[in-house]
Amino acid sequence: MTTSPARRAISLTGIKPTGVPHLGNYVGAIRPAIALAADYDAYYFIADYHALIGVRDPRLMDEYTRSVAATWIACGLDPERTVFYRQSDVPETFELQWVFSCLTAKGMMIRAHAYKAAVDRNRAAGESDLDAGIDMGLYNYPVLMAADIVVMEADVVPVGRDQIQHVEYARDIVERFNQAFGAGHTLTVPRHVIDEAADANTMPGLDGRKMSKSYGNTIPLFASTGELKKLLKKLKTDSTPLEAPKDPDGSSLYAIYRQFASADQAADLRARMLAGGLGWGHIKDELHALLDDHLREPRERYAELIADRAGLDAILRAGAERARERARQVVGNVRRAVGIDA
Ligand code: TRP
Repeated sequence: MTTSPARRAISLTGIKPTGVPHLGNYVGAIRPAIALAADYDAYYFIADYHALIGVRDPRLMDEYTRSVAATWIACGLDPERTVFYRQSDVPETFELQWVFSCLTAKGMMIRAHAYKAAVDRNRAAGESDLDAGIDMGLYNYPVLMAADIVVMEADVVPVGRDQIQHVEYARDIVERFNQAFGAGHTLTVPRHVIDEAADANTMPGLDGRKMSKSYGNTIPLFASTGELKKLLKKLKTDSTPLEAPKDPDGSSLYAIYRQFASADQAADLRARMLAGGLGWGHIKDELHALLDDHLREPRERYAELIADRAGLDAILRAGAERARERARQVVGNVRRAVGIDA
């Protein structure tokens, strides 16, 4: 008799291609997820069909998908070790989404944060139809996300706080499946993981608010060295004069600096800010040098990946093959459990 070896736990996350990645994406999501991949069988994918709820320009869909894929690889994701693929290349996901729809309480969906926020906006705008402008993509979003997670039977899902509810929904849906069909197959119940360091240190943007595409205050991760310089010039500082001591904890410049610096470098800048005599312009130059140092190589790698369309396609296709191998097994088990293909 053979015993199957215990499988390594699977970590899975999706990245919605809705823009060109910025420093906040790197520190908040990319860097922690790549670090986590070392301890798991990692499945990371570009959630292009999720992005379709907002991206309605085919050229932008293509551009953002490639930009996000190239960014993760340039930042150190190893596509040999991590299964890296496009959501749309795994059609089993969409089959599982239907099965899950049949098990999902509609009442739960009307409590989903994104849907509720859209309804609240309509109410605030005095709309008589509270569902005005809301499509089924937004409404079903959490069910598709549950399918993404479970089609690989992931154990852990690294996400930001805004996505916790979605992972909870996936758990709920899996539990309903297991209750109904567990005699045939028991699906793995996933759980979210939050990177504590990334969660505790949000990256400020050019205007001091959290760096976010929706605020238009981002610094693109792979801005050229010249663009980076120009953007940092725009970064908001207070009017403390050059000679005066500066409060590192109230400074966006320092907040960005410490995300990239070693502990010693950060302590050193901190001491010099507190001592006075260091102007904002100097600090910006130091931040520029530090960022440029960190990003020079990945920036070059990124440019190569973007220039080689066929090469990037081949990487994603190879990832999709591996992803589908697993997805076919899981969906095969689901089909048999519900009595289709019994
Ligand atoms: N909803 C996630 C976001 O907006 C992206 C996503 C899609 C995802 N499918 C997923 C994340 C599955 C984790 C697991 O960031």
